Amino acid sequence: MIDLWYKGAVIYCLDVEVYMDGNGDGVGDFVGLIDRLDYIAGLGINCIWLMPFYPTPNRDNGYDITDYYNVDPRLGTLGDFVEFTRQASHRGLRVIVDLVVNHTSTDHPWFQAACKDKNSKYRDYYVWAEEKPENAEEGVIFPGYQESTWTYNEEAGAYYFHRFYDHQADLNVANPEVREEIYKVMGFWLQLGVSGFRVDAVPFLIELEGIKDTAEAKDPLLFLKEIRNFLSWRRGDAIVLAEVNEPMDKIADYFGDGDRMQLLFSFLGNQTLTLALAREEATPLIEGLKAQPVPPDVGQWAYFVRNHDELTLDKLSDAEQNEILQRFGQDKEQVWIYDRGIRRRFPPLVDNDPRRIRLAYSLMLTLPGTPVLFYGEEIGMGDDLSIEERNAIRTPMQWSDQPNGGFSTADSDKLVRSVINEEPYGYQQLNVIAQRRDPGSLLNWMERAIRMRKECPEFGWGQWEIIETDNPAVFAHRCEWRKGTVIALHNLSSQSCVVSLQLKDEDANCLTDVLEDQPYEGVEQGCHDIELEGYGYRWFRVGGVHL
Ligand code: GLC
Repeated sequence: MIDLWYKGAVIYCLDVEVYMDGNGDGVGDFVGLIDRLDYIAGLGINCIWLMPFYPTPNRDNGYDITDYYNVDPRLGTLGDFVEFTRQASHRGLRVIVDLVVNHTSTDHPWFQAACKDKNSKYRDYYVWAEEKPENAEEGVIFPGYQESTWTYNEEAGAYYFHRFYDHQADLNVANPEVREEIYKVMGFWLQLGVSGFRVDAVPFLIELEGIKDTAEAKDPLLFLKEIRNFLSWRRGDAIVLAEVNEPMDKIADYFGDGDRMQLLFSFLGNQTLTLALAREEATPLIEGLKAQPVPPDVGQWAYFVRNHDELTLDKLSDAEQNEILQRFGQDKEQVWIYDRGIRRRFPPLVDNDPRRIRLAYSLMLTLPGTPVLFYGEEIGMGDDLSIEERNAIRTPMQWSDQPNGGFSTADSDKLVRSVINEEPYGYQQLNVIAQRRDPGSLLNWMERAIRMRKECPEFGWGQWEIIETDNPAVFAHRCEWRKGTVIALHNLSSQSCVVSLQLKDEDANCLTDVLEDQPYEGVEQGCHDIELEGYGYRWFRVGGVHL
């Protein structure tokens, strides 16, 4: 069904707060973002994912919400939001927004009312215990920054459950009234023009910890189907892109038969991609992709190189995690967080080597699924490890070499977060304007690569398979959809090579280069041996390009 637009999408995640400041107060806002829509559209993006922009005390970068029906006043108004979705749609850009309903901020009026009055209807919106449960120290998500999952509230006279920080109280989704609230929130934003949601922390959203044994609690997966049904009634083409980092024997449940979540982030793909890039061997990635279940027809994996959180490596062994740190030359003390991940952007992991950066994004754009970029990746932004926890990678977008990187005209001590200003990632050298002028820049490369990716819909839509090669450093795969076939080769090692591919006869007929890291001799008909530079990549269309 050609209507499944997300199979051909390239998604761009951004945080309004640090993207573009339109009113000069030091905080990014919707007015500033509207001004940058042409930039985003020009990059070839067709769907923007907005990180939380709702009213918040901002103790978890907005993932701690106090009002689901409003815009954080620092970022604008609901009017600005509607103007934004409208302007985005004029440019063919869809918008999806973060739906954070596993928990609310403890400052949310629901939680406040629940604490004040045991008989309030809001009491049962949350999860309580009179005594501290014995397992309270287990299952903590932010070790080092969070001690327990149950915290005592004086006013309530009871312990409340919080899977994440203690200022994020978990909602009781077994309570039908809470579900109704969630649907109302979804309905509200759909009505304001969004095309769906990135759903936060889905496995925790449906977990039963501390929840009474109700009919709803007995079938937690049913909730996912209900969410999907609601969505379909309100807006047929809307999607849910779910954050699910679960073991492979559980993950297919989140797709269901195509009746639950349409898109799941591929955390395994991300982790095995990282290991493959560090080790300069294709095997980990091949094994990672093969271990994932094949999504149902309407389902899709979403691939990324880095997201807005730490680079989670929890599905790898301790030895593999240490190998990654070592091969990327990282100091564990400085970069390792929550016992499972690296709080850095990608370029600093590969010494800012343009060849390795392009290799990683070329892989992301060709893996069989939907690619998701995090703002700033298109220009190769770095990080600031002096900023606490994950905020190290959430510095303001670098637009130009003007003060504050062109992000804001405010005094730099008023900025919501400081801009990177040290070489080689400082805004003085690394910014959008400079890269626009440079034909060899990452930005220009990204634009071209995204265009080509869209001209090769097989990568997003097709049946895929690994092509066997005689070189363990080469990742080669083939995607076929309708009458088209594309093949992509990626050399993960620094050594150039001539790789011998086990091609099907029909593929060997004629391979036309559509994107490559440098000019190569064309591939002769019937040839199975293909040249690749160190960290080189080549995308081919089988049977010539029909343009
Ligand atoms: C998700 C978000 C993360 C946030 C957490 C709690 O994992 O990606 O940034 O801290 O949920 O909402």
